[in-house]
Amino acid sequence: MRSFKSIFISVTLAAALITIVFILNAQRPAIETNQPSPDFVRATGKCAECHRRETSAVVHQFERSEHAKHGVSCLECHKAVEGQETQAHKSFTIAKDLTAKNCSECHSTEYAQFLRSRHAAPAWAAVSGARDFTTEQIAFAEKYHKGAVNRPPNPLAIREGESAINVGCLGCHDIGKPNDDGSIGTCTDCHARHSTSIALAREPETCGQCHMGPDHSQIEIYHESKHGVLYNAQKGDMNLKAPPKMLSTADMSVPTCVTCHLSGLDGLNVTHDTTERLSYWLFAAISEKRPTYQRGQDAMKETCSKCHASSQVEAFYQEAEEVVADTNHKIDEAVTLIKSLREEGLITDTPFDEPIEFIYFDLWHYYGRTAKHGAFMGGADFVQWHGNYELLLKMTELKKIAAELRAGTTKP
Ligand code: HEC
Ligand code: HEC
Ligand code: HEC
Ligand code: HEC
Ligand code: HEC
Ligand code: HEC
Ligand code: HEC
Ligand code: HEC
Repeated sequence: MRSFKSIFISVTLAAALITIVFILNAQRPAIETNQPSPDFVRATGKCAECHRRETSAVVHQFERSEHAKHGVSCLECHKAVEGQETQAHKSFTIAKDLTAKNCSECHSTEYAQFLRSRHAAPAWAAVSGARDFTTEQIAFAEKYHKGAVNRPPNPLAIREGESAINVGCLGCHDIGKPNDDGSIGTCTDCHARHSTSIALAREPETCGQCHMGPDHSQIEIYHESKHGVLYNAQKGDMNLKAPPKMLSTADMSVPTCVTCHLSGLDGLNVTHDTTERLSYWLFAAISEKRPTYQRGQDAMKETCSKCHASSQVEAFYQEAEEVVADTNHKIDEAVTLIKSLREEGLITDTPFDEPIEFIYFDLWHYYGRTAKHGAFMGGADFVQWHGNYELLLKMTELKKIAAELRAGTTKP
């Protein structure tokens, strides 16, 4: 009897509850009933359950991330935010494409810093010019980097054509792509989509995806430097996962790219603005001081001084600045030569249509840059054999061709 009575009560209560749920649910807006809430997704893991069969690597990567540990669900990243196109997907609604905007919903500080950096609009404009940006975006970026966005498309890129631009140049420069939702860039070049790891971002190879080759040999220089050699030998003992605000020299006693350029080592500010600690425009043919010269140099030196005596750091900078001055002087000679050949009508105004222009371009764009980058990042071989030796060789070639053009033995 007692058991029948309790079953009867339970059934009645359950029926009442179901009715209440139905009534409440009918009053919720349609969008909420069609779209399971993030809580629901987190609780059931529907995306993960199905994707474990469909694209298992995605789920494995996600499961190891800090996001999984902090209960961030698949849908919290994949839902469409303002300005994004949606697509129906297995009874969910997800965004067609994800951009920096999805990340910025939860990480606005990092996005704001990134937006000020040359990794944002300037990177895209270096190839495609200003045409893909709104007036506001141009004005914003120009405040921090004068002339870096309000510029014409790159003449070399135009000569090479669309497919070379899209798969080549923009394969690296799309770190600052203007997105349809009004945001700029992508965060996953350094963090990856699903592991979203800071340990990955601290690996030099991550930066080396783009910072490589003869025109910006940063990864090659790093591997030759004492820092790179020591890092490779000792990285097993380091703690690359240390939270940025607590990163100390005990976690990483040898610097990688980010230690010098971005990290918050021993109480320094973490930054996503790669310009903050720089003092020269080293990528330019003739490298001038940035308007933020003093602030940039002080900030970098402060980073060095977490591990080095300031006398050593000052001596290092003095030598590197001598290389900048000396390289400027050498490139200036080439600039003057090319300019006078143009004025004499011996070369055309069209860029990249004559061999001598390529020699001149290699001279500053490969060897001049390499010498300067080598000097600041500890790569003696790059200052010398990949730098100054080549500068001398190319200058000799330039002078020979110039003499032939002037003597009329080479046709313009
Ligand atoms: C019932 C199974 C199932 C569920 C549930 C599911 N997916 Fe998928 N998803 C798939 C399949 C199948 C594909 C296509 C895979 C392929 O093309 O090989 C896919 C593709 C995707 C893609 C790539 C779409 C594109 O066009 O590039 C994304 C992003 C995605 N799913 C995210 C999610 C998210 C987020 C959730 C949860 C909100 C989810 N999925 C739930 C099965 C599922
Ligand atoms: C930290 C944000 C984030 C989280 C969390 C996240 N994703 Fe993604 N996912 C991305 C980004 C960014 C992309 C790239 C999308 C693009 O390029 O438009 C992506 C792409 C994908 C793709 C397409 C992959 C390919 O190579 O074709 C699938 C499938 C996918 N996600 C499923 C999931 C599933 C399932 C989960 C949960 C287990 C999940 N995602 C969690 C950010 C996230
Ligand atoms: C729904 C909110 C949310 C979204 C969207 C989101 N994150 Fe996060 N993210 C978090 C939380 C919470 C943490 C862990 C706590 C913390 O470190 O702030 C975190 C941590 C991180 C970390 C530090 C990881 C580590 O190893 O310590 C990185 C890097 C990161 N997110 C990048 C991204 C990127 C890139 C995207 C977009 C593809 C993104 N996040 C989207 C909430 C989010
Ligand atoms: C392998 C990746 C990669 C490719 C491919 C690439 N770049 Fe770059 N580019 C970079 C990096 C990294 C820098 C930053 C160099 C520095 O600051 O030392 C850079 C710098 C530049 C700069 C100087 C910075 C500025 O804002 O003026 C220009 C111009 C430029 N690239 C144009 C191009 C063009 C045009 C192409 C294709 C013809 C191209 N790049 C292909 C990675 C790449
Ligand atoms: C997807 C390609 C890509 C990756 C990955 C990348 N960069 Fe860059 N980086 C660029 C490009 C392109 C530029 C040149 C932008 C310009 O000046 O036009 C650049 C410029 C820079 C600059 C010069 C900024 C300035 O003000 O002149 C620094 C410093 C830098 N990157 C550091 C890093 C570090 C450190 C990493 C790794 C954590 C990294 N980058 C990862 C593409 C990349
Ligand atoms: C020991 C510290 C240190 C390490 C490690 C380091 N850098 Fe640098 N980097 C510097 C200094 C110093 C400069 C010159 C700063 C200035 O302009 O005053 C510089 C300049 C640069 C520039 C030149 C920007 C321009 O004006 O053209 C880029 C790009 C860059 N570094 C990227 C990288 C990358 C990528 C790595 C890793 C492969 C790396 N750095 C490793 C200290 C470092
Ligand atoms: C050039 C590479 C690069 C890009 C691009 C990049 N990050 Fe980072 N991010 C890093 C590095 C490196 C760290 C760790 C800094 C350190 O060592 O202290 C980091 C740390 C973080 C953290 C943890 C910060 C903290 O203080 O705990 C978050 C969150 C994050 N990034 C989000 C983003 C978002 C969002 C974007 C896009 C707007 C983005 N990142 C783009 C390199 C990058
Ligand atoms: C996280 C710590 C750390 C930071 C930051 C750091 N270094 Fe180093 N550096 C080292 C270590 C460790 C060595 C190897 C010293 C040894 O031989 O024991 C080294 C070696 C060097 C050497 C080679 C010394 C030699 O005699 O071979 C130079 C030069 C140097 N660093 C300059 C710099 C400059 C300049 C900066 C800043 C732009 C910098 N370092 C930032 C840790 C650091």
